[in-house]
Amino acid sequence: MRTDRIETVPLGSRQAGRAGAAATAGRRLRIAPVALLIGVVPWLVGCRQDMHDQPRYEPLEASSFFDNGAASRPLIEGTVARGHLGEDVGFETGLDENGAVVADFPMAVDLVLLERGRNRYDVFCSPCHDRLGNGRGMIVRRGYKQPTSFHDPRLVEARPGYFVNVMTNGFGQMSSYAPQLKPADRWAVAAYIQALQLSRRVPADLLSGEDRAWLAGEPTEVPQPESDDGGHS
Ligand code: HEC
Repeated sequence: MRTDRIETVPLGSRQAGRAGAAATAGRRLRIAPVALLIGVVPWLVGCRQDMHDQPRYEPLEASSFFDNGAASRPLIEGTVARGHLGEDVGFETGLDENGAVVADFPMAVDLVLLERGRNRYDVFCSPCHDRLGNGRGMIVRRGYKQPTSFHDPRLVEARPGYFVNVMTNGFGQMSSYAPQLKPADRWAVAAYIQALQLSRRVPADLLSGEDRAWLAGEPTEVPQPESDDGGHS
């Protein structure tokens, strides 16, 4: 609260004819006690209720309500977690039980998966890795550590489980993206990264006849990607 400003207000200025300044000063003087009351009264009566301290029990918190002193009831014998067991460690983390990088996708790599991967990649990865995977995203341009390009030969050789594992556990300065991306989405992003990598080294026989004809000719105008900066220019 700016009490320092109030003390310097010339109180006699109303009589001195400085009507505008005086009116402002008067308003400030009237507002000040009200603001003071709003701040102090709740503190005095102790009715402050932080949202993080809600009147409810946390899991496993102590309570006098039940005989065993716990707020949570024990699980019924034979209870099975549905969808949260995470027992397929290779699917969850990209590394199998022996810590080896998973080499194959656990689902079909089709257009639906790639579209999902592109969507998640553009949202969560492109701010740093940029939309083409060069590692020159907008956050990096503003000073964040530059990651290795996904087109670096080492990463072109990497198997999909490697990318899933980086997303699951983080890597150096990059934090984990497990809270944002469920395991299936991590695999979708890995598939899209591999599509980005392939896009720079497609064997000619995989190209359509039209594209091959274009390559064989002498194009006068080289088509450029719309933008390589993630659209943040
Ligand atoms: C806030 C910036 C940022 C975001 C967002 C980000 N990364 Fe990274 N990433 C980095 C940095 C920086 C490194 C290098 C870390 C280091 O070396 O300390 C890195 C490293 C990596 C590597 C390891 C490369 C290597 O050298 O082996 C992979 C793979 C990777 N990121 C994938 C992803 C994916 C996939 C996403 C989206 C789910 C993502 N990153 C989101 C900044 C980011």
